[in-house]
Amino acid sequence: MKKKAKKSSNPMWGGHYASGPAEAMQRINECIDTDKRLYLEDITASKAHASMLGDCKIISSKDAKAIINGLDVVRKEIENGNLQFTAELEDVHMNVEARLAQLIGDPAGRLHTARSRNDQVATDFRLWIRNAIDRLDEELKLLQTALIDQAETNADTIMPGFTHLQPAQPVTFGHHLLAYVEMLARDRSRFSDARARMNECPLGAAALAGTSFPINREKTSAALGFDRPMANSLDAVSDRDFAMEFLSAAGILSVHMSRLAEELVIWTSDGFRYVRLSESFTTGSSIMPQKRNPDAAELIRGKSGMVIGSLTNLLVTMKGLPLAYNKDLQETKRPAMEVADQLSLMISAMTGMIRDMKADKSRMNAATNGGFLTATDLADWLVINLNMPFRKAHHVTGGIVRIAETKGCRLDELTLDEMRKIEPKITKDAFKALNPAGAANSRKSYGGTSPSQVKKQVNNWRKSIAGESK
Ligand code: ARG
Repeated sequence: MKKKAKKSSNPMWGGHYASGPAEAMQRINECIDTDKRLYLEDITASKAHASMLGDCKIISSKDAKAIINGLDVVRKEIENGNLQFTAELEDVHMNVEARLAQLIGDPAGRLHTARSRNDQVATDFRLWIRNAIDRLDEELKLLQTALIDQAETNADTIMPGFTHLQPAQPVTFGHHLLAYVEMLARDRSRFSDARARMNECPLGAAALAGTSFPINREKTSAALGFDRPMANSLDAVSDRDFAMEFLSAAGILSVHMSRLAEELVIWTSDGFRYVRLSESFTTGSSIMPQKRNPDAAELIRGKSGMVIGSLTNLLVTMKGLPLAYNKDLQETKRPAMEVADQLSLMISAMTGMIRDMKADKSRMNAATNGGFLTATDLADWLVINLNMPFRKAHHVTGGIVRIAETKGCRLDELTLDEMRKIEPKITKDAFKALNPAGAANSRKSYGGTSPSQVKKQVNNWRKSIAGESK
């Protein structure tokens, strides 16, 4: 076999190498396809670092200026599509620095004073996730708003509420939708907790041990919008718990969205037909002309698997790593970025589906006539009017349900005499309790399903979301 000519050693770190890496080594080592998405964070952090080095007189202010201006040129080149990243330079840090060197010459070589790619990548990645959280938060707010709008429209739309997917008690559709608004609010608060905890700056930790140069870490930290510099350099370069927290919150959010997606699949199915999705968020079948499939909902449900898997991916990647930096950490960026991308798509598809969907109020209402949904209300009536202990009332009602089951009729279709066979003291008044809308209306306890509660909650949500932008 002919040997290929050896490539020259890496210009950024290959001083003690006589030759370049094997092709497979280069391929396994590079991450530029993922990394190029960090270009803005990388350049922003490098500018802050250069400016601090100048202020602290570690490099001349002339060099600092040249570096900063040069980095702006690199940024523009990237944004205009005029800079080709190369895999030989492994990652975004070395690509940016190498281009800077071509542009400004010697001063570029001073940028890497008192830092390492280890603190650089930790800083860039934090900044990237911080931005991703801010974007997702805005998108989640839009999803909440779409749900709140539908909840208002459907504050008094009565439908069966389920437990075990068996008809349980009448609820309002608005109430059901507001449950997801609550879940999403907790998701947003989980992201914001993670953001607050991650907002510390690793820059200046250098390779792992800090630096002997008289740097000012407060300065770079503040310039990048962090709350403070991280207090331990080993921790700063080796942990990715901020990404794990991001993915945990993402995992929980995706579970919430997957449940809502599953409900949309159920509600649009032929047995239910509670909801109709718009043409823009469904697809037809190439063979069955009648189809209107809830693909977006199914894909949200499906993609949540990837989100959850990415959390596991990161946890497992991290679990055996000794301090400090290990190259395994390079593998943590892609899953986090993919999750941020896919989540954003999932949220916007969900927002569109919810915004456009039409509830079939009469189908929902008709469904409340089945399933003995008001059995609990009859039991409550016995408690209130006959002073019966609830356990006994439950038993008595069970007997009445049994008669209706055998007859194949609704509870309100039984005669008073039939009911009296089970409980002689029942009066005509008990029939009032059997109306599903009345039953939903009566559940006015705080957080309950009555239209009046739903309207109150809708107002609270509107105020709280409007208050956020102040
Ligand atoms: N590309 C690397 C990463 O993403 C940057 C840090 C490399 N550090 C090193 N010592 N090889 O993690």
